Amino acid sequence: MSEKPWDGRFSEKTNRFVEIFTSSINIDKRLYSYDIEGSIAHCKMLAKQSIITEEDASSLIHGLGKIKRDIDRGKFLFDDSLEDIHMHIESRLLQDIGKVAQKLHTARSRNDQIALDVRMYLRYETLYILKNLVDFRELIVDFAKTHIDVVLPGYTHLQRAQPILLSHQLMAYYEMFSRDCDRFRDALKRINIMPLGSAALAGTTYPIDREYTAELLDFPQISANSIDSVSDRDFIIEFLAAASLCMVHFSRISEELVLWSSSEFGFIELSDSFSTGSSIMPQKKNPDIPELVRGKTGRVFGDLIALLSIMKSLPLAYNRDMQEDKGPLFDAVDTLKACITIYIKMLPELRINKEAMFEAVSKGFLNATDMADYLVTKGMPFRLAHICVGKIVNSAINENKELHEMTLKELRPFSSLFKEDVFDILTTNRMINRRESFGGTATKNVKAAIKQAEVDIKKENENFIA
Ligand code: ARG
Repeated sequence: MSEKPWDGRFSEKTNRFVEIFTSSINIDKRLYSYDIEGSIAHCKMLAKQSIITEEDASSLIHGLGKIKRDIDRGKFLFDDSLEDIHMHIESRLLQDIGKVAQKLHTARSRNDQIALDVRMYLRYETLYILKNLVDFRELIVDFAKTHIDVVLPGYTHLQRAQPILLSHQLMAYYEMFSRDCDRFRDALKRINIMPLGSAALAGTTYPIDREYTAELLDFPQISANSIDSVSDRDFIIEFLAAASLCMVHFSRISEELVLWSSSEFGFIELSDSFSTGSSIMPQKKNPDIPELVRGKTGRVFGDLIALLSIMKSLPLAYNRDMQEDKGPLFDAVDTLKACITIYIKMLPELRINKEAMFEAVSKGFLNATDMADYLVTKGMPFRLAHICVGKIVNSAINENKELHEMTLKELRPFSSLFKEDVFDILTTNRMINRRESFGGTATKNVKAAIKQAEVDIKKENENFIA
């Protein structure tokens, strides 16, 4: 049991079970470096405003620096009677530098302090995630570029629909992850706001300079309302929503990899170093990585729902419920980062079975739409062409043939519009390359999309450096 900052008001010691129950140190200790950086900026501001002396500020800053080095080196004892990271650091400061430590918390409350720490943490992690997502998008583009000649069936309802380029499908994921980057970038604008100086909830009577603290901590903006500053966790929820959507995209690509690596599809093979075996069935090679990514998606959704539920109906301003925000936030950050990293490592290891993909395109009447389009170009209204080709497909099924295996003689009874040239447009190559409407799968479109993506990625990477 330790001394508490609120001991003056209390005549009884805190119950040991209460200490354990209210403690968050095991979770929030990972905020220590932000907590210390924030405290150092706060000290500098207090000194600049003559709220404390330069001399006091310099011993506080010196003491805080030493605590940071001790925690970095694992030479710091955490103890749940000290509740959270803020109290740990302050109490250690008192031991190390004596009474002057008691001046650190002037014009500050743990309520604005924790808001600051989490914002600094999340700003760092969001930028890290963004950088990694850009790297991953770059890998997708490289992969699409080197596999530009690979054709596979595009699916709707998981039924073979029309032939597409594998690169076109991959670039669809590129688009999804690009929007994820946009969402994280947008969330960052609202994460990157400095709340310190709001104190407990109403601001402070000291002549503080919040703009100066913000400048020291590299925040472009300070929060406008002290009550909102200590009670807002929207910025976390926005991050978790963006993370959840990003995980949706990872889970969809994962699902395709799981399906494609099955012997039923046989479209891809995951390298041995990125698969696992079965403890009982010697023949098995399991796609555990995409499966786990798919599974971890549920976890991140849970983190989002947890935060929404914690915040729902809370009266203003700070409530202790909000201490429960960090577990889900840290979990989502760790999970998303792990999923991006494993995909960055796994994607280049993916082997494509070009022949199996092509084989799948040649069966299942994937050229039926093109045959109908042919009749349209010869003057038949599309709806009638659809019915006509439907009948042809029906008869081809009975004959156990594909459309391109039928003869002109067999086609003519269905429509006299059929000529020998119908067979030219039924080939996979023509089917793909005739789809040159903007955003379509024609090779020249996909190549242009790849080129554009390369330009965009280069620009995004330059912005990180700037
Ligand atoms: N550990 C608290 C949290 O994570 C810090 C703020 C505590 N404030 C208070 N008045 N008890 O939210």
